[in-house]
This record gives sequence, structure tokens and C-alpha cells, in this order.
Amino acid sequence: MRLFIVLTTLSFTASLAPAAARPPSFGQNASAADGVFSAAQVQRGRETYHEKCSFCHPLTPRGPNAMVNGWEGDPLVGDAFLKRYATVFQLFDVVRKMPDNDPGGLGRQRYLDLTAFILEANRLPAGNRELAGDDETLKRIGIASSAR
Ligand code: HEC
Repeated sequence: MRLFIVLTTLSFTASLAPAAARPPSFGQNASAADGVFSAAQVQRGRETYHEKCSFCHPLTPRGPNAMVNGWEGDPLVGDAFLKRYATVFQLFDVVRKMPDNDPGGLGRQRYLDLTAFILEANRLPAGNRELAGDDETLKRIGIASSAR
């Protein structure tokens, strides 16, 4: 919880604190704009999304990029949405508490795939690697300055 507050505060300064040690797979200033998930992973995430999420966050006729939160009309795409998440971890940590009627029920891999799908819907690019790793790894991938 303390780390969440620190990261939230940092997001206002649009910079991430330097990580103490160099991570195995991502640099300490890794960005979600660097191709941190694969196209195949996005496709898997899309399938899971249709199965588990679109009931409450429907995909609109505008296509896979047009996700809306059924209650408030608040989309899961766009600047206002993405600004709430300073790191890929923060988004992942919300996604893995979904679906609202079965929090945590899908397993880590499918939550990673769903996170990739939502990042891609927010116009971040697919690359050659899969989004993977533990929470610490995901905390080192920034979103705040990458999607502009
Ligand atoms: C039973 C309905 C329901 C289902 C199914 C559901 N959600 Fe949600 N979701 C909600 C509600 C309600 C909120 C807003 C309140 C909250 O955070 O609990 C929300 C919020 C979110 C948010 C945060 C939105 C924001 O504005 O930052 C994300 C991301 C999200 N859901 C992703 C998913 C994903 C991915 C799935 C599929 C695994 C999913 N949801 C399935 C009900 C649902």
C-alpha cells in the first residue's frame, strides 16, 4: 500500500524512481511504449476479454478499441483512463482483481494477457516479447509518459 502511494505521487511528476537493482528483463526506465507485450498475447487477451469481461465492459460496434465501463460510460481506453496508471503493474493490479464477480479467478497468465490487450487498445505497440515476470518486474515498466 505504501508503494502504491509513492508510485501515485510520482505519477504527478511524470517520472519514476530509479530502481535499486537492474532487473533481468527490462531496463530501470522501461516504458510500455517499448513493445513489452506480443501480438499473440494481445489476441489471447482479446479472447479472454470477450469471455470474461465484455459482459460488464462491453465492446462497442466501433471495434476492439472501444471499451466502455457500463456503469459510468467511463472507457477503458483514452488519456483519462491511462493517466490513472503510472506503471504496468498498477494496471495489472486492477485487472487481476477482475472480474468483479470472481476477483483473481483467472490466474496470472490470463491477467497478463488481458493487461496486454488493454495496453494495445490504448495504442501502445506490440513487440517481440511477452509481458511476463513478477510484480517487481511489472513495477519497472512505466506508462505515464509513454502513451502520449
Ligand atoms: C460483474 C461485472 C464486471 C466484470 C465481469 C468485469 N468488471 Fe471490470 N469493473 C467492474 C466495476 C463495477 C468496475 C468499477 C468499480 C471497481 O473498481 O470495482 C470495474 C473496473 C475495471 C477497471 C478499472 C477502470 C478504470 O476506470 O480505471 C478495469 C481496468 C477493469 N474493470 C477491467 C476488467 C477486466 C479486464 C475484466 C475481465 C477479466 C473485467 N473488468 C470484468 C465490473 C466488472
